[in-house]
Amino acid sequence: MTRRTLMAAGSMGLALVAAPRALARRADSHRERVEDLIARMTLQEKAGQLTLFNDPFRWRPGNVNPGDFDTDQEKTAQQIRDGHVGALFNGIGAEQARYAQRLALEESRLGIPMLFAADIIHGLRTTFPVPLGEAASWDLDLAERTARAAAAEGGASGIHQTYAPMVDVARDQRWGRVVEGAGEDVLLNKLFAAARTRGFQGDDLADPLSLLATPKHFAAYGAAEAGLDYNTTDMSEQTLRGVHLPPFQSAFEAGALCTMSAFNDLNGVPTSGNHWLLTEVLRDEWGFTGFVVSDYTSERELIAHGFAEDDRDAARIALTAGVDMSMQSGIYLAHIPDLVESGDVAMEVLDRAVRRVLMTKAALGLFDNPYRGADPEVERRVVGSPAHRDLAREAGRKSVVLLKNENKLLPLPKAGKRIALIGPFGADRSNVFGPWSIFADREMGVTFEEGFRAALTDASLLTVVKGSDVEAPLDGGIEAAVAAARDADVVVLAVGESHNMSAEAQSRVNIVLPAPQQALAEAVAAVGKPVVVLLKTGRALELSGAVKDAGAIMVTWFLGSEEGAAAADVIFGDHAPIGRLPISFSHYSGQQPYYYSRKATGRPELPEESEYKARFRETSNTALYPFGHGLGYAPVSYGEIVLGSETLPWDGELTASVSVTNTGDRPVDEVVQLYVRDRVASLTQPERLLKAFQRVTLAPGETVEAAFTLTRQDLLFIGRDMAPTVEPGWFDLWLAPNAQGGPHTQFRLVR
Ligand code: BGC
Repeated sequence: MTRRTLMAAGSMGLALVAAPRALARRADSHRERVEDLIARMTLQEKAGQLTLFNDPFRWRPGNVNPGDFDTDQEKTAQQIRDGHVGALFNGIGAEQARYAQRLALEESRLGIPMLFAADIIHGLRTTFPVPLGEAASWDLDLAERTARAAAAEGGASGIHQTYAPMVDVARDQRWGRVVEGAGEDVLLNKLFAAARTRGFQGDDLADPLSLLATPKHFAAYGAAEAGLDYNTTDMSEQTLRGVHLPPFQSAFEAGALCTMSAFNDLNGVPTSGNHWLLTEVLRDEWGFTGFVVSDYTSERELIAHGFAEDDRDAARIALTAGVDMSMQSGIYLAHIPDLVESGDVAMEVLDRAVRRVLMTKAALGLFDNPYRGADPEVERRVVGSPAHRDLAREAGRKSVVLLKNENKLLPLPKAGKRIALIGPFGADRSNVFGPWSIFADREMGVTFEEGFRAALTDASLLTVVKGSDVEAPLDGGIEAAVAAARDADVVVLAVGESHNMSAEAQSRVNIVLPAPQQALAEAVAAVGKPVVVLLKTGRALELSGAVKDAGAIMVTWFLGSEEGAAAADVIFGDHAPIGRLPISFSHYSGQQPYYYSRKATGRPELPEESEYKARFRETSNTALYPFGHGLGYAPVSYGEIVLGSETLPWDGELTASVSVTNTGDRPVDEVVQLYVRDRVASLTQPERLLKAFQRVTLAPGETVEAAFTLTRQDLLFIGRDMAPTVEPGWFDLWLAPNAQGGPHTQFRLVR
């Protein structure tokens, strides 16, 4: 046995990077130019700089937003010439970017460069795993690298800004947009928000292959009541500041210079008209200097919310609240001139918004190098490059999570066993990319079948049967699947959700496998062969019957362009699974919202008594698969926690370590997770809260000591006065493989 000691590096939640100074310097040098422009702009031109329309010039595979996109190229060209639009979104292509930019530079009165944005969420042409899947890697460096690659492809295609990362904490799996973020936990969301921002923006925002990041949707959009997309959010200011705002702060501290105001109503004031949120908190308190763009028509939706009378009123409220740029509705262009002329909006309010937009354009280098990355030659070289495909495969295999593996069913041998690959996703290419992959190169996707065939020594041992459509049965499908299962030694069931089941506006009442697929799984399992489930999903699902009881379950999310190859890397054992759940799997849909860091209540469920406790009749409060859970191909055992001392001095440090041992015969990665509970506080605190984590790689038989250092800063919570606070007293501490169980100890913070 060997023994090593590792110190937790960079994993403590509070270690955030400072905003890149180069950005600020460049912007300063343009201040004069921007002020000169503002002095010369007409009201209409100012409104134009605050107006964003869809891009009709460039290739766009279809609509991702409601209503029809404008396809009238001449109309938009004229708006550019007239200075009536300052930004376009969701079209890619270097050639066309140059055309639209040339119109602005050479044919508009003031020659202000255009800003081109797009929803580059998890890759452009090369597609990486969906953000939730990638968060399951718990690998921040990976997230930074995929964001960097996505930025390079976007930049080379003439894009300057991405509407990503989504940093909404999501605790209700009925909400379809869980798939777009980093899951339920505050720390993971903060760390991924910063990593992705760093990746998109790089060291220098003016680098043609960098993109302006847009952490979204500001704020608390993920807390929609009942998981119903766009729904009301209503919460204490402590929950807002303690759970939903930190990932945004983290992205801003990493340098993000834009954010998107959300669709939701927050405590009675829709976020896109919320002066307190967009100005008092974001600007006055945090010192954010970038600009705020509305979500798609969210500023006009103030009318539907019952918060504004008409378009003009909505424009007034949104602009005054702090929404600087209006996406798609056109109400700024239509009403700002009159609002200012009539005195309903002060000129300073308008100029402030214009200044923010122009200064961000300056920070992007658009005044110096307006064509930036838009170079068809670079585009051909960078987009879909072999290096990006390799990265997609690496990211794919690091994102899968092995939930269960009875009798070492996985990995499967590459030869000697007949495999039946059954289910709607076995040979399907359309669902490898996942939601928000609007620009994905559809030709590029590797299916499970293709990945398996390439990995197997003898591909003739593989039979592929669809068995069912995603949401409808197939004629004779079950019979064919059962026959294939009979002829096989092992069944791999590729089942789950299609990409359009977990996405915007795709809230679900029951987070279950569609009935036809469940029926398929039951029939196939009844044959009696060992079953491996590959679960395609963008949220935690309620697992039941044959799926829940399968010998092995691997969550594959939507892994992107290299999905089949990445999955095969893990299934056939070339690489071990290393992912950990960024969301909890509850037993039943009816338990949602379900998350590990819940409060204890006055009647917590105890293992020994369940009467009159805060629990449902049908199930305990423990998760089926807890947050943080994930298996490798070898078992890991934990020793006792060793504390440097029983007390953490007020201005001092406390070390906590645990030894983890690989007791199996294959290498394994373990993610050691540090959780705390503040036992008694002036505001009740969660039963557990993740504070740090550390990955250790263990050879067979190896023991490694994972060590962490805690300070008072790690124990902060939002106090009654809304300020971060910490109180002396006892804390529970776990160094655990997931949010449930694991070695426990306690320590005391003393003043
Ligand atoms: C979504 C945003 C997205 C925008 C532009 C909206 O419907 O909520 O996340 O960035 O559309 O496509």
